[in-house]
Amino acid sequence: MPMLKKRVAVLVSGGGTNLQALLDAEQNGVISAGQITLVLADNPKAHALARAAGRGVKALSIDKKTCAGQAEFESKMLSVLAEEKIDLIVLAGFLTILSNDFVRRYENRIINIHPSLIPAFCGAGFYGLKVHETALARGVKLSGATVHFVNDIPDGGKIIAQKAVDVLEDDTPQTLQRRIMEQAEWQLLPHAVEQICKIMQDEDM
Ligand code: GRF
Repeated sequence: MPMLKKRVAVLVSGGGTNLQALLDAEQNGVISAGQITLVLADNPKAHALARAAGRGVKALSIDKKTCAGQAEFESKMLSVLAEEKIDLIVLAGFLTILSNDFVRRYENRIINIHPSLIPAFCGAGFYGLKVHETALARGVKLSGATVHFVNDIPDGGKIIAQKAVDVLEDDTPQTLQRRIMEQAEWQLLPHAVEQICKIMQDEDM
């Protein structure tokens, strides 16, 4: 009997190039143990929503600004995730920091991609170009990306996969960001999703 695919939700806030890499990986068979069944944004303007809709994947936004607070926002998210029977949550450029309560409900079932070699340049406040600006200011010769489980410490959960990328003499935060995406993030994240979905399937047997 064929194994049931694990139901994956991707949480996004912006452009969604990592989401695109996941959708492409599913289309070309790199992801086969999982299926992206939901894309959820914390704001209706996230371009990632259009990428999902373009592939026929259910795309919803819960506008954080219209919620009374984090608790209301998370409770709306939790209802959608439960309704969709989500097995694995992937944070792909999702800018909201999730509460301990939320994380505990999906223990070992939430992963995040971060654009540095953790434990360097990570934690609260390290997102977007800030990560790369700080890496360049420090003069590191290698940076990269990390996929990790999400726990109650920002960027503090167990590391699943990492890939190093060279920093070049004339890099700007923008060129470094782009190289890390192309050479690390867009490969690392789909492989990690497949790996975890496979482990989940094996646990079902
Ligand atoms: C990526 O650099 C990712 O590592 C970080 O946020 C950025 C999101 O980019 N968490 P995108 O929305 O996937 O294009």
